[in-house]
Amino acid sequence: MTNLDQAALDELTQRALEAARNSYSRYSGFSVGAALRLSNGETVTGTNVENVSYGLTICAERSALVSAVSRFGPGIRVEAVVVVNLNGAPSPPCGACRQVLAEFIVPDAPVTFPASDGVRTMKFSELMPLAFEMKLK
Ligand code: THU
Repeated sequence: MTNLDQAALDELTQRALEAARNSYSRYSGFSVGAALRLSNGETVTGTNVENVSYGLTICAERSALVSAVSRFGPGIRVEAVVVVNLNGAPSPPCGACRQVLAEFIVPDAPVTFPASDGVRTMKFSELMPLAFEMKLK
């Protein structure tokens, strides 16, 4: 795994917390923030944006990724991810976000998130070992 030093982790965590404060989560009350560090040295954040039609909700991680592509284009590579929430609860990235991250993330990128036993960091390829790919013959 590409190691993040403590200062880089703290910086990404602060940025993710700032994003979480912008959460639009009136239905769940669960405020999530995500910070992505890109290979171009930039950090991009996102938060969850809920909708009255619940299934249209977008998670913080996908919100950050969409923002990163919008700002820097389709060639971005994600080198580290930090997820936080303001509820003091576990929040590993959901399955949908893992599949979407798989498209843009380097396999050994560290993903840090609140788990039931404290803050945890896992290599992306351990978190999402068999993402769907389309390889047509
Ligand atoms: N949520 C995220 O932002 N990221 C995840 O990986 C899982 C869930 C949000 C979606 C919804 O607004 C709230 O958390 C409760 O599910």
